[in-house]
Amino acid sequence: MTRHVYVLNGPNLNLLGEREPGVYGAETLSSIQEKCNAKAETLGLTIDFRQTNHEGELVDWIQEARLNASGVVINPAAYTHTSVALHDAVRALACPVIEVHLSNIHARESFRHQSYISPVAAGVICGFGAHGYELGLDALASILAKTDN
Ligand code: DQA
Repeated sequence: MTRHVYVLNGPNLNLLGEREPGVYGAETLSSIQEKCNAKAETLGLTIDFRQTNHEGELVDWIQEARLNASGVVINPAAYTHTSVALHDAVRALACPVIEVHLSNIHARESFRHQSYISPVAAGVICGFGAHGYELGLDALASILAKTDN
């Protein structure tokens, strides 16, 4: 059974590759997108891969996922640590959400230790760089496989 999932990216992730490569790695967002497409194919998933710098647009996409997606992988970037609106949008989703961060947010500044998303996510992957997105898709596929049975 092919399932459709959203892979959503928050602010400044369009700058991956240029922005603090020591923290976030050298891969660009479009190279991560290609890897996600290849991974999704092996898992029987189709994906919508998107990035925005705007909080409200992320909220709109999460609401859209209620109708169009079986699950969501999201890197909310800086909004992870600030956004009650994203928390509420994810809370209103019936489908599973996997929170992904390239860096290990717990090993960084204390303001990054709190996530408004983690309490409403099915799980969190952080610290594995770009590979975290593939791990997130794997995790989502295994959750969805359980609901097929
Ligand atoms: C990030 C971690 C956030 O703290 C930061 O604001 C980001 C990226 C990550 O992927 O490691 O923009 O979500």
